[in-house]
Amino acid sequence: MAYGPAPESNAEALDWLARHDHRFGHFIDGGFTAPEALFDSKNPATGKGLAQVSQGSAASVDRAVAAARRAQPKWARLPAHKRAQYLYALARLTQKHARLLAVLETMDNGKPIRESRDIDLPLVARHFYYHAGLAQLAPTELPGMEPLGVCGAVIPWNFPLLMLAWKVAPALAAGNTVVLKPAEYTPLTALLFAEISREAGLPKGVLNIVTGDGETGAALVAHPGVDKIAFTGSTSVGKAIRRATAGSAKALTLELGGKSPYIVFDDADLDSAVEGLVDAIWFNGGQVCCAGSRLLVQEGVAERFHAKLKRRMDGLRIGDPLDKCIDVGAVVDPVQLATITRLVDASDGDKYTADTPVPQGCFYPPTLITGLSAASPLMQEEIFGPVLVSMTFRTPAEAVELANNTRYGLAATVWTENVNLALDIAPKLRAGVVWVNGTNMFDAAAGFGGLRESGFGREGGWEGLHAYLRPRGKTAALKPLAAMPAPKAATVDGLDRTAKLFIGGKQARPDGGYSNPVYSPKGALLGHVGIGNRKDIRNAVEAAQAARGWGRATAHTRAQILFYIAENLSARAEEFAARLKAQTGSSGTAEVEAAIARLFTYAAWADKFDGAVKSVPVRGVALAMNEPCGVIGALCPDEAPLLGLISVMAPAIAMGNTCVLVPSQPFPLSATDFYQVLETSDLPAGVVNIITGPHADLAKPLAGHMDIDAVWSFSSTDLSKTIEAESATNLKRTWVNTARARDWFAPEAEGRAFLRHATAVKTVWVPYGE
Ligand code: NAI
Repeated sequence: MAYGPAPESNAEALDWLARHDHRFGHFIDGGFTAPEALFDSKNPATGKGLAQVSQGSAASVDRAVAAARRAQPKWARLPAHKRAQYLYALARLTQKHARLLAVLETMDNGKPIRESRDIDLPLVARHFYYHAGLAQLAPTELPGMEPLGVCGAVIPWNFPLLMLAWKVAPALAAGNTVVLKPAEYTPLTALLFAEISREAGLPKGVLNIVTGDGETGAALVAHPGVDKIAFTGSTSVGKAIRRATAGSAKALTLELGGKSPYIVFDDADLDSAVEGLVDAIWFNGGQVCCAGSRLLVQEGVAERFHAKLKRRMDGLRIGDPLDKCIDVGAVVDPVQLATITRLVDASDGDKYTADTPVPQGCFYPPTLITGLSAASPLMQEEIFGPVLVSMTFRTPAEAVELANNTRYGLAATVWTENVNLALDIAPKLRAGVVWVNGTNMFDAAAGFGGLRESGFGREGGWEGLHAYLRPRGKTAALKPLAAMPAPKAATVDGLDRTAKLFIGGKQARPDGGYSNPVYSPKGALLGHVGIGNRKDIRNAVEAAQAARGWGRATAHTRAQILFYIAENLSARAEEFAARLKAQTGSSGTAEVEAAIARLFTYAAWADKFDGAVKSVPVRGVALAMNEPCGVIGALCPDEAPLLGLISVMAPAIAMGNTCVLVPSQPFPLSATDFYQVLETSDLPAGVVNIITGPHADLAKPLAGHMDIDAVWSFSSTDLSKTIEAESATNLKRTWVNTARARDWFAPEAEGRAFLRHATAVKTVWVPYGE
């Protein structure tokens, strides 16, 4: 039996466009500006223009940022309850206008009305409701935090209104104001939302929309009046934005592409797994950052699974997105269609195209490609269309290996009836989100975001709100700290020792064979330390990678070892205090005491930085697990040679990371003494590696290294720009001080902020019920 057409009316949307004369300016300071430099926004399903929108110039961006800046202090000073009320009003009004918004979204983007109506819009409303709640609770639950200021949001075309909600709701809830640039293909629902924000009575300047293409986006990213950039889009643009914001002290979150694995074990309910796969790769025509675009199916059931899948593909209906019976709509733009076509045409493998009518125009048929090798470009590259690639595997270990064989790390899906297997596999998958026996489950309460080249930062949940806040209060500028100068004639006490580097649990000579003398303030030669170089960093990273099993040690084990390190340091407290005094000239007693206390703090935290079970509206649970980042490279503070090193090392290893530490440049001997404490404290080899040397020389190889997952810098040399720019190579996370001081003795030099930087939240969705 064939389906008859069931078109949704677009009359109201056409009316709205007509009311605006099909021409739009930007939405700045509470009103629309006169249209400028117009370009078309088209309906991809028909190829016809819907409206003309303005190409935002640098001047328009500037006006919008100025409006946001003016509005921000007052918005931040509002009682939390007032901000919550505005967000609630936005939630209610998106519900009230849901049908109009859904139809307009479908017309502008080409996605089936069923999806915009039943998925996008309900999630948008849910996001504003949830964040109305966060706005209400933030000041009491997160005391000591303040908004960042003006947030610039740059969003893509695949979920235009949903991505707006993901950026705008947390930013406003936290007390920031926003300038948002929608994608050039899909600007219309953002403009309608701007109008709705007026209906909600949102104060002028709190939300500003500037339309335009990548150039407008780049102007917003570069604007000095912006305090944070939140971006969703391609990995290549994400990298460009990382470089463009390097050293600017702008906060940054990036939600980028993916090539997410969809793993089907032989005991899975295959029919359900096929249905899940339809949602994974044909939802929004595969134009989804977390699309399950890489099927990995266990060998024994592969043939049966592919046969079922092909049958299901043949039943998919592709066509007019406004038709309520349509499964797959239009591709967003002819440019994207050409990209998909080019990628598939250039690929080898066996291609199966759904046996279903495909209309003329911007449509691409559901496609399955089998017989590819793991290294084949289509196994690695994001296609961003309705194209699924498939491979087989034999064992769970092989499934994990293939799943992780990608530069991305956004999402993963696991299908099996064996809960033990599912929960064993989930933590091993390098992805920010894992769905068990389901796919594409989203909720405002559950964090969403990636690892590796899928970007960093989470959207949704408390973890998402943190990305829009910073600790309250002013910080002082950090002055570069130089080593004690060489005297004309040095006095030498006893033996002149050269401290080695510490790599893989062993003392190692620096590769370059050079060392630096270290003098006391009075000119006594205290010893020499090795000058580490790029090769030493490489060796240390190798050792740190080899020690990653530390992340799988129990938290209890990690706690015990941290307590033990503290005990062993305590036994040598006087010696360490004397060494500090010899290097700096000031008493080291308090610093050693503080360092021991800090080790206790993180021994305590090791088994208490708990994850959460999120209250998501499904029958099931969404687990938020705090996982280690992996390998952390860190330039330690210069000014507190022992306490600074421990303040950086202890949270990293407490959370299961391994690390490569570059200790205080002027006062390195406390670190080289400290590894003797590590040697006697049962810490597995390679968990902590110490490379002495000039921070300026070691920052670049650390930040550019492909096998380091995060880089921190607390150096008194300002290396923030170098580190952030270099980190774009593999989009590792960074935490840099932008030359601002921190009091390492103060309570704010320890605790949750450090633990959050040392971990990434993985959300594991486990629905239940038969
Ligand atoms: P894109 O990354 O170029 O565009 C996303 C947004 O960034 C748009 O608003 C765009 O105007 C803006 N933009 C572009 N260049 C910029 C720059 N230099 N500075 C600041 N903003 C800039 O994505 P595009 O070209 O639309 O799609 C290309 C590919 O990107 C797709 O085929 C897909 O593979 C991937 N993509 C991934 C998305 C995701 O959700 N992860 C979303 C959209 C695209």
